[in-house]
Amino acid sequence: MRILILNGPNLNLLGRREPEIYGNVTFDDFFHELKARFSGIHLEYFQNNHEGALIDKLHDSGLHADGIVINAGALAHTSIALADAVAAIRTPAVEVHISNVFGREEYRHHSWLSAKCAGCVFGLGLEGYALAVEYFVRRVRAAAALGE
Ligand code: DQA
Repeated sequence: MRILILNGPNLNLLGRREPEIYGNVTFDDFFHELKARFSGIHLEYFQNNHEGALIDKLHDSGLHADGIVINAGALAHTSIALADAVAAIRTPAVEVHISNVFGREEYRHHSWLSAKCAGCVFGLGLEGYALAVEYFVRRVRAAAALGE
């Protein structure tokens, strides 16, 4: 089972960026822990600050990943191109935001990605990524049990 975690702009600064909102754990440290929690799963991590690079990665993984966990950062609120890429690929995606975007500025309340995703996790901190991975593990195992 192969699951891709895709992080967009400024999420390379996790642990240092506005820690009162995003916490003080780096994504590398969290990802290390996540891999230990899901040791039987092939977890891949990709972060980029550029829209096109994220779209290219979606096209690429849309062919061979079982699930994509995507935190597009601010691009969730602005990028129809990224939403189109999520819609264009076969692999299902779950949208994650570390902070509760609905408790923040109004411009963060809308995401172009949400309607194209299987589901969304907002406001549960880094644990949101783990819950999204858990969802894909259950989904793939349930499909396998049904012989799909
Ligand atoms: C974020 C929320 C976005 O509004 C913001 O632009 C980010 C981080 C989150 O994970 O809470 O960069 O996606």
